[in-house]
Amino acid sequence: MNISANDIGPSAAFSFSPENQKKIPAIVAKYPAGKQASACMPLLDLAQRQNDGWLSVPAMDHVAEVLGMVPIQVYEVATFYTMYNLKPIGKHHVQVCTNLPCWLRGSDEISATCKRVAGVGFGGTSEDGMFTLTEAECLGACVNAPMMQIGDDYFEDLTAENVETILTTLRNGGTATPGPQNGRHTSEPSGGLTSLKDTVSDGEDA
Ligand code: FES
Repeated sequence: MNISANDIGPSAAFSFSPENQKKIPAIVAKYPAGKQASACMPLLDLAQRQNDGWLSVPAMDHVAEVLGMVPIQVYEVATFYTMYNLKPIGKHHVQVCTNLPCWLRGSDEISATCKRVAGVGFGGTSEDGMFTLTEAECLGACVNAPMMQIGDDYFEDLTAENVETILTTLRNGGTATPGPQNGRHTSEPSGGLTSLKDTVSDGEDA
């Protein structure tokens, strides 16, 4: 990934809040002695959550300082993984999966609806600051395709209609329920059970 000055957001001073400082020893202790640099990713995540969903250079520098790393090592991690945002983002980070299974199940329509409702394309943030849209590779929920991720939550079995409802609800300050949007339980068959339908009474061999 190539980044330029235009890809990096403003640089206000950063240090972990007292609450987050208390979490750091337990995170670092998960890794072997002398390997504290392995805590780079969870500390970047902690910093990003504290910093309104994105990592400024001072935030990355602070993580490097806490872990005794050279800043460039932290930048290498932060610029490699798409879960880290290097610019300010909207209140809701909407990541639409457009990989093959989701595409076959209609992700073009989901993308178009997100763009229409947010009023921006992929990589943009809506004028009201509510949504940042990102095109995502497979998010590992193909069985419930098409799907999108908003913040930490997966919204699955999407249609243009339920996507519009979800985004409009969020824009109006409401709460949208994550998971399958078509009423099925997790990734069970949409048409109900197709096997293991017999019940076994007491004393009867299965
Ligand atoms: S292709 Fe969309 S979740 Fe896998």
